[in-house]
Amino acid sequence: MKSLVILISGRGSNMQTLLDAKLPAKTITVISNNPAATGLEIARSRHIQTHVVDHRAYPDRETFDAALAEKIDACQPDLVALAGFMRILGDSFASHYQNRLINIHPSLLPAFSGLNTHTRALKEGVKIHGCTVHFVTSQLDHGPIIIQAAVPVLPEDTPEALAARVLQQEHRIYPQAVRWFLEDRLTLTNSCVEIRAAAIENHALYSPPLDQ
Ligand code: GRF
Repeated sequence: MKSLVILISGRGSNMQTLLDAKLPAKTITVISNNPAATGLEIARSRHIQTHVVDHRAYPDRETFDAALAEKIDACQPDLVALAGFMRILGDSFASHYQNRLINIHPSLLPAFSGLNTHTRALKEGVKIHGCTVHFVTSQLDHGPIIIQAAVPVLPEDTPEALAARVLQQEHRIYPQAVRWFLEDRLTLTNSCVEIRAAAIENHALYSPPLDQ
């Protein structure tokens, strides 16, 4: 079995769904850059080992990344999952964890990389929005896509309402992606991810729906 490290910065709802998913992992460790992250309490209440590497204790990104990598490497993880981890990680961090570092992003990448994805999606008037789990590369919110979920954007949506609809799907796709990784079912070829034995359905999603 493989070992998993989850990196968080705040609320930790994606981390919680990973902890609740009964994943086939030998060990799970949660690390936060923020000592006040509420996700830390959730992890501790589940008797999961936690660590804090507070970015404010380091003079620059490089030294923080190095301290974080040292803490992660001490856990000897097969997979590092960013779950609402709100620090940008440098190139050498990304290449150190190449093909074993994944992230969940609240948009259908490559659309809306970066912050405030729901507000920007509403402003652009897109009719379908969603979330993506992807391998992390040195390019922010890029990298081979493992799974995406799409949701409709409704006429009366606020950023908060849309975020809540997307978050529900984040909680479905992240445990699935991590499980596939831990079960050795992902293959990376030419920056694309193949998933062994996933049944692909040939259904379109229309938003708004077509006239009958
Ligand atoms: C999620 O929407 C995630 O996609 C984004 O930040 C949010 C974190 O939420 N990167 P949580 O801490 O997992 O509840």
